[in-house]
Amino acid sequence: MSDVKIESILHENRKFNPGANFAENAHIKSLAEYEALYAQAEADPLKFWADLAEKELHWFKKWDQVLDWQPPFAQWFVGGKLNISYNCLDRHLTTWRRNKAAIIWEGEPGDSRIITYDQLHREVCQFANVLKHLGIQKGDRVAIYMPMIPEAAIAMLACARIGAPHSVVFGGFSAEALKDRFNDAQAKAVITADGGFRKDKVIALKEQVDLALADNASPTVEKVLVVERTKEPITMVEGRDFWWHELQKQVSADCQAEEMDSEDMLFILYTSGSTGRPKGVVHTTGGYNLYTHITSKWIFDLKDTDVFWCTADIGWITGHSYIVYGPLSNGATTVMYEGVPRPSNLGCFWDVIEKYRVNIFYTAPTAIRSFIKMGEEIPNSRNLSSLRLLGTVGEPINPEAWMWYHRVIGGERCPIVDTWWQTETGGVMITPLPGAIPTKPGSATRPFPGIIADIVDLDGSPLAVNEGGYLVIKHPWPGMMRTVYNDPERFRHSYWEHIHPIDGHYLYFAGDGSRKDEDGYFWVMGRVDDVISVAGHRLGTMEIESALVSHPAVAEAAVVGCPDEIKGEEIYAFVTLEGDYAASDSLVSELKDHVVEEIGIIARPKVIQFTDALPKTRSGKIMRRHLRNIAAGKEITGDISTLEDMTVLDKLRGQEAKHH
Ligand code: PRX
Repeated sequence: MSDVKIESILHENRKFNPGANFAENAHIKSLAEYEALYAQAEADPLKFWADLAEKELHWFKKWDQVLDWQPPFAQWFVGGKLNISYNCLDRHLTTWRRNKAAIIWEGEPGDSRIITYDQLHREVCQFANVLKHLGIQKGDRVAIYMPMIPEAAIAMLACARIGAPHSVVFGGFSAEALKDRFNDAQAKAVITADGGFRKDKVIALKEQVDLALADNASPTVEKVLVVERTKEPITMVEGRDFWWHELQKQVSADCQAEEMDSEDMLFILYTSGSTGRPKGVVHTTGGYNLYTHITSKWIFDLKDTDVFWCTADIGWITGHSYIVYGPLSNGATTVMYEGVPRPSNLGCFWDVIEKYRVNIFYTAPTAIRSFIKMGEEIPNSRNLSSLRLLGTVGEPINPEAWMWYHRVIGGERCPIVDTWWQTETGGVMITPLPGAIPTKPGSATRPFPGIIADIVDLDGSPLAVNEGGYLVIKHPWPGMMRTVYNDPERFRHSYWEHIHPIDGHYLYFAGDGSRKDEDGYFWVMGRVDDVISVAGHRLGTMEIESALVSHPAVAEAAVVGCPDEIKGEEIYAFVTLEGDYAASDSLVSELKDHVVEEIGIIARPKVIQFTDALPKTRSGKIMRRHLRNIAAGKEITGDISTLEDMTVLDKLRGQEAKHH
């Protein structure tokens, strides 16, 4: 973090007020109402959260203590008993929502399903019984590696129902990455599919699972459950592998939701940091349920008549919180779409909106930038008039993309909620409330009630208006991660030890740089650590470096992000070779493929540049700032006097990236 200077070059003065009609009908109707809620939550956070927990969730038993805070370890609603699958399903069955659509699913090859709350409840209960019959008990970890099909949500809810924490792994990760996650979580079972459809191709998911389990590489995994999706041939191992549809038929649809302790683990989700292997982010039951519920309700202004569509994959936190748990806890209708825009179907997103009359649409800036490139004729030729609210997440949105989204997709009538948050935060932290907070293109605006956010320097001192610094959270909140799975010290170190306030107060350090303007609006600028975002996918540069150096040809590797118009950032790798190897185009392809094998397709480097040496300080630290400038084609600026060998930089610049 030491060679980082946080500067913002963005000057944006446009401001958009919520439409009067929208505000009048919104859950939170005015700036004054937001400010009152915010002040109330700030003055007495425990009362604020406890009142909401009481009003919004069903508890089998009420908590004894709202918060137990032993910094940096928090416990919320201590002693309370609940089940998130009960809150997402059972409690709606005694209302008119019983036959309301819970999930509207649109499959990639054109198939579709609409599943009511009653049907979803039945399928979840059945699958929970399947898991029990296979010997999965409360506390056992279950890995989920699935395409975007309803069974992915059913699997998550069934795990939650019996108290088995799930760990969903995105379908774009490879067998190697799966193996690491199975072992770290000590998963007892894996739920997968024969394959999935992605961009006109079939992805062989079960084959990756087989590879991850081969040679007893993941010894804790006893059972594999397989959904039939693509019908491509696969191998089934006797006694280990079972077809989902066969077992579903053999069980009853009667399964009581387990009474979970508020602090029982709900799931582990792996995410990248600046050091080491991906971290198992742990979320627990009560706090996460409340936080995803209330943020869904107020930020997306969810109404019972709404059709809500979040385009994320279930393999990421956005899918967990805003496709599955948040919307279903509110009894909303949530859309799941298996496809992604691709040359053979550039208008597919707009077709889904038109077909199901989607009211609320939540996507990523990288997707918006690619829509801009495809031209506005495509969305203009569809009927998007059902939309009333738009959202973005995952990376900063550039004001021009925001304006395009506002004009072309939102027809200048839909507020845009630019939501800043992270895997670790469980739910959205900084965001407009759409009926209350005027928006400015490119700003996530203001913190959610109960979230005390600030911009500070390394000593934890608040910075002046518009001064760039570190984004921190000053008070625990219910949706916060509880620990790194099996590694509480890593949790402390990664998030709570970077900023050192003199008074010893614990501040949660998010890893992002930001500034706050004269209206108290946050302008998040991006990561200040070695984490990059490629098409909204979070990757640690060190993981990619480790993947590269595990190839016999590679002596040293340094990976940086370089700007990309659509994806935000692309992966740019500088590599020095072992003596016996020579640079060649075929070696470039081989190394790129090697990274795909080690991590997955989402980590394929765009550029590999061979070099004789890497620029290092006298103490041997790679000077990434210079590499970032070279990757971006910029002039080298700033102090280079600490560089060990000044000629390295000249050579690197001279070489350019011949071997792309
Ligand atoms: O850098 C921030 C960026 O995404 C990071 C979190 O990544 P992940 O855990 O994968 O979660 C993504 C979806 C919640 C953050 O540290 N980020 C997320 N949302 C925004 C953002 N940056 C700017 N503006 C946002 N709205």
